[in-house]
Amino acid sequence: MPARDIIIDTDPGQDDAAAILLALASPDEINVLGITAVAGNVPLPLTQKNARIVCELAGKPDVKVFAGCASPMVRKLVTAEHVHGKTGLDGPTLPDPTMPLQSQHGVDFIIETLRERPSGSVTLCPLGPLTNIASALTAAPDIVERVQEIVLMGGAYFEVGNITPAAEFNIYVDPEAADIVFKSGIKITVMPLDVTHKALVTPERVNALRAANTNVCSAMADMVDFFERFDTDKYGSNGAPLHDPCVTAYLIKPELFTGRFINVEIETASELTLGMTVADWWRVTTRDPNAMFIGDIDADGFFDLLITRLARL
Ligand code: RIB
Ligand code: CA
Repeated sequence: MPARDIIIDTDPGQDDAAAILLALASPDEINVLGITAVAGNVPLPLTQKNARIVCELAGKPDVKVFAGCASPMVRKLVTAEHVHGKTGLDGPTLPDPTMPLQSQHGVDFIIETLRERPSGSVTLCPLGPLTNIASALTAAPDIVERVQEIVLMGGAYFEVGNITPAAEFNIYVDPEAADIVFKSGIKITVMPLDVTHKALVTPERVNALRAANTNVCSAMADMVDFFERFDTDKYGSNGAPLHDPCVTAYLIKPELFTGRFINVEIETASELTLGMTVADWWRVTTRDPNAMFIGDIDADGFFDLLITRLARL
C-alpha cells in the first residue's frame, strides 16, 4: 500500500505536536506534502513558528511549512493559552526554528496542491479551527471534488464542550468555517472529544515515553506534563487527552477506532450553543449522514503505536 499524501493543517499546541511527530515518524504510511498553520490555540505567528519547531525536533527541516489565516472567517479569534501556555508549546525548552517559513499563503498551497495532484489523492488533516480549509474550499470550489478525505479533530457529542458548555474548541473558534466543511459533501472522518477523551496520557504512559530515552520522547513527555494540568484539574481525569494524534493514528491503523456514519451539523446562530456539533448519533432525524463520527479507541494500541513511532525519530 503506498503512503498516503496528506496536508496537515494545525495550531500547535502540544497535542498537535504529537500528531505531527507521529506523521513524520511514519513515512511508509504517511507522506506529508506540507503543513499549514492556522490561528487557534495561540496566534498565527506562534502556530507557524511552533510547526517549524516540531519539524526540527523530528529532524525533518525540509518539510514545507506555510502560514495560513490569522483569524476566523467572520469572528474574532479566541485562543487557548490557558491550556497550552503563552508559547503554545510550553513544557520543554526547544530552540527557535532555523528552517524557513514558505512565502506562499497556506490557503493557496492547499488549493495549488489539490489542483496539481491527481484528483482524490490528497487527504486534508485539520487539527485546529477549520479556517484555512473552509477558505480554500470557498476560494476554489473546483477543489471540493478533488479532496480524497478530510480527517479532522473537532466537535463532541456525549462529551459536550471543552471551551463552552456546548462546544469543542476547534469548532467553536470558527463555526462558520466548520459549517462550510461539514456541508461540502467531502468524505469526512471526525475525531471528537468523545474518542479523544479516551486517549489519556496516564502516568504509566508518560513513564513509557520517558523510558524511550530519546530527545523527541523526552520533549513530548515534557509537553504532556504541562498540557495535562488543564484536563486533570477540570475533569479529574487520570492524564491529558491527546486529541490531535488520533487523526494521524487513524491514517496508520484505522482498526484502532470505531464510529458511526451519521449526520453532523454545526450551530452558527445561537450564542448559547455556538459551535456545537449537533451529531445525530441515535439517528432520530431524517437528515442525510455526512460524517464518520468516531466514538471509541483501543487506547493501549494507540499509545503503543504512538510511543513506538516517536521513538524512531
Ligand atoms: O479541543 C481540542 C482541540 O483544540 C485540539 O486540537 C487542541 O490542539 C486545540 O486545538
Ligand atoms: Ca490542535
